[in-house]
Amino acid sequence: MQIRLNKYLSECGVASRRKVEELILQGRVSLNDEIVSQLAVKVDPLSDIIRLDGEILRQDEKVYYLLNKPRGFVTTTNDEKNRKTVLDLIRTKVKIFPVGRLDYDTTGVLILTNDGDFSNLLLHPDNKVPRIYKVTLSKPLSLKDKERLLKGIIVEDKKGRFETVYPTKRANVVNISTVEGRNHFVKNMFKALGYNVMELMRMSYGGIKLEDLPIGAYRHLTKEEINSIYKKYAH
Ligand code: URA
Repeated sequence: MQIRLNKYLSECGVASRRKVEELILQGRVSLNDEIVSQLAVKVDPLSDIIRLDGEILRQDEKVYYLLNKPRGFVTTTNDEKNRKTVLDLIRTKVKIFPVGRLDYDTTGVLILTNDGDFSNLLLHPDNKVPRIYKVTLSKPLSLKDKERLLKGIIVEDKKGRFETVYPTKRANVVNISTVEGRNHFVKNMFKALGYNVMELMRMSYGGIKLEDLPIGAYRHLTKEEINSIYKKYAH
């Protein structure tokens, strides 16, 4: 498969896409031993030889992790308050990033990868990727409020809704699913109706589940899990 040279260079960790364009224009990049002078060039990462200042570049292998996020970790890659980040929990030399955000006190399914396309696929609102959460509330959810959550309410100036709301054996615990990825979305939806979220756990994202992964532990996504995401959400 051919991809744009600037995308290839940025995926090799050379620099951002904009910066790599400067490198190309400076004549520092060659493709199969010819200096590249145009930005719109496409390359085949498997068969072409691309060099920067004469040195052959290799794309980082793509990695995909599933972490059972514990509370007390931020999902941003560097925190201004110097709190622990989820990256502290994964031992890898590859530069990975979390797919979307979970709050400091939220636990459960968090995917981390170095594959920007995979991340975009999961995050793009048009793809309507379902997230399932177990929500512990400050009080039992009334039937009327359940209906409102399913029908849709305004949160932060925009309509939001849950796809499903299921009761559990505990009166103040519900399992909900949503295709929304806005920050604090689940908490804001309940807050709008007068409920506090005491605990929040993501049980599944795009069908990827924790199964028996202990809290704080991680594993690689399987090929089947990665393929299932492409099959379900890539058009
Ligand atoms: N919604 C929230 O409110 N918080 C999360 O961490 C995830 C979804």
